[in-house]
Amino acid sequence: MKKLAEVYVRAVGAYVPPRRVTNDELAQTVDTSDDWIRSHTGIGARHLADESVTTSDLAVGATKDMLKRHGIQLPEIGAIVVATSTQDYLGFPATACVVQEKLGLQVIPAFDISAGCTGFIYALEVARGLVATGTVPSVLVIGAEKLSAITDWSDRNTCVLFGDGAGCVLVQGGQGGEGEIVDSVLHAEGSGGSYLCIPQGGTSAPFDTAVPLQGHKLHMDGRAVYNFAVRVLKEVVDELLSRNHLVIEDIDWIVPHQANSRIISAAAKRLKIDQAKFFMNIEDYANTSAASIPIALREMEEQGLLKRGQRIMTIGFGAGLTYGGNLIIW
Ligand code: ACO
Repeated sequence: MKKLAEVYVRAVGAYVPPRRVTNDELAQTVDTSDDWIRSHTGIGARHLADESVTTSDLAVGATKDMLKRHGIQLPEIGAIVVATSTQDYLGFPATACVVQEKLGLQVIPAFDISAGCTGFIYALEVARGLVATGTVPSVLVIGAEKLSAITDWSDRNTCVLFGDGAGCVLVQGGQGGEGEIVDSVLHAEGSGGSYLCIPQGGTSAPFDTAVPLQGHKLHMDGRAVYNFAVRVLKEVVDELLSRNHLVIEDIDWIVPHQANSRIISAAAKRLKIDQAKFFMNIEDYANTSAASIPIALREMEEQGLLKRGQRIMTIGFGAGLTYGGNLIIW
């Protein structure tokens, strides 16, 4: 069998829309409070995109940030994979194709991955495969979401939780970059799909039979998702440790999907580790689904928290229900 190439994360980028909405501002339009949101979720504010902005615009913003900060030229991008649940178009064209066109890139592979909040984890592993087998020299992996477009702004159970934004990494083989992706685990439990879904608009309930239009916004059973998330966060950490003959003390950072600080506290307790091992920035961005992990990586890089040789776990969980993780040696 052909020897597979080592695959690295070479560069990181992110973009969030400039409009920042605090909990207090939200409480002016929906029956909630800063105190409730902070104590139940850890969220203090979220960035929300204007109506005319699309998910691909956010993705392009993150890509430009990465290109500029790392001095990378556009032709160095060998493929584009966008992890998102909020595609520019229902079905097609893929948001990755829209991004390709907006960036002015020539013919390269471009496609979307739909794995909810775990999308970035899945996309990173798909990118690793594409590069390791030599199909393409590099892949731009983007997690991008305009969740405000699928949020029911009259439902306080969900609307306080989400934000818009995008993050990306350039994955490539060869001479070594910042972080080698050494392993991934990917899982799904389709039996829990109804806990987190958009009931209408797909082929099971097309818009033309959905009269009046309802159910086209995100629906969530918060308690069920909470229990699932706490369970699988621990399971994925344990699985990555055991597959790689490591113990938790060998891990420098766990970068979890930023869904809710209580989920992370509960998982830390179950893992019997200090919560400080988890990087968290949910206070400033809320839950940006597939974008939350690359946005977190970009912040960690900027703050000088990512050091060469460190072992980093990225852990995702979300709609599907999907979950998984990557082990990266930075
Ligand atoms: N402001 C004020 N009160 C609220 C709000 C709000 N925004 N939302 C709910 N409440 C009320 C409820 O109406 C309820 O009132 P009641 O007792 O009078 O009926 C009370 O608060 C408690 O509601 P619960 O739903 O039991 O609150 P809980 O403690 O479970 O917290 C939460 C809700 C934060 C959603 C929690 O279930 C959770 O964290 N779930 C995980 C879901 C998640 O993070 N989803 C993100 C998307 S999925 C993902 O990214 C993986």
